[in-house]
Amino acid sequence: MGYELHHGNAFEVMQEFGENSVHAVVTDPPYGVVEFETANVEKMRDGSGGVWRIPPELDGSERKPLPRFTVLSEDDKQKLRNFFYSFGETVHEVLRPGGHVFVATTQLLMHEVSKQLDEAGLERRDVLVRETKTLRGGDRPKGAHEEYDMVSSMPRVWWEPWLVYRKPFEGRLQDNLENWGTGGLRRESEERPFTDLLEDGKTPKEETVIADSAHPDGGEAHPSLKPQYLMRELCHAALPLQKGTIIDPFMGAGSTVAAADALGYDSVGIEIDETFYEMAEEAVPKLSEVETEVEKREDFGSSARGRSQSLSDFS
Ligand SMILES: C[S@@+](CC[C@H](N)C(=O)[O-])C[C@H]1O[C@@H](n2cnc3c(N)ncnc32)[C@H](O)[C@@H]1O
Repeated sequence: MGYELHHGNAFEVMQEFGENSVHAVVTDPPYGVVEFETANVEKMRDGSGGVWRIPPELDGSERKPLPRFTVLSEDDKQKLRNFFYSFGETVHEVLRPGGHVFVATTQLLMHEVSKQLDEAGLERRDVLVRETKTLRGGDRPKGAHEEYDMVSSMPRVWWEPWLVYRKPFEGRLQDNLENWGTGGLRRESEERPFTDLLEDGKTPKEETVIADSAHPDGGEAHPSLKPQYLMRELCHAALPLQKGTIIDPFMGAGSTVAAADALGYDSVGIEIDETFYEMAEEAVPKLSEVETEVEKREDFGSSARGRSQSLSDFS
């Protein structure tokens, strides 16, 4: 068995995992938390706004809804802090010593998320820069576009931050690698280590079409579907010895699980929303078949797609 999908609340499902059982966490959580609460997801689905903004059509092509993190109230921010503190605590419990955590975030809230992960006892290691041209920021003053046509309220956002954390361990890295199979990051090749600048683009059309067609009522793809190239890059780096289990507690349409599967790694995905969960069930095997550069690497043969591995050392 290569992957398991759970429909449920990540905090409850992760309680069932054993202590020190997971090798790595690779996840794209709800950045501001409130945007994926049921009421807001319903507003996004029926196009009635709320925290979600529907960007104007560009060149006749429809844009995906974007959550507006500038409208979070102080209560929303406190909710976010509690959410990420619990996430950090739970992950600290289930991760093996030295296990890595990759968490997607946003410029506006990364400091809040990071503080909670620090306080939960995880060790901050880096912030990855994923180059990606988004439609956030860059707007002229609302209602005064013409008067101030050379002014934007904030920069146009052209990169996405990914926090890198590790569960602390004692002693030397080589001992931790031997005892737990964790602590380091897999290199891209003998010559090149994994780097913190991820050259990337937007999610390819082929992948959004797969997620679109996985929608149980023929609706839209998940609004935050991540590209396979990026997710495989991260999953590849996360298992230094190419063995172990990766979890994504907020899997959406399942791009992390698909990436782990394509690399021949065991993984577990959790999703609270029924529609997104059903999309993941359908989309994961198809996204896993998409070809990217990562699985063409020299060491790919040793992680071997189709390797039959059980999750027996997981629990
Ligand atoms: C940013 S999206 C992930 C998108 C995903 N990376 C993909 O490529 O499809 C975050 C997901 O977390 C889910 N979520 C939010 N709170 C959750 C919770 N407590 N437990 C499990 N899933 C949750 C949301 O429903 C949403 O689908």
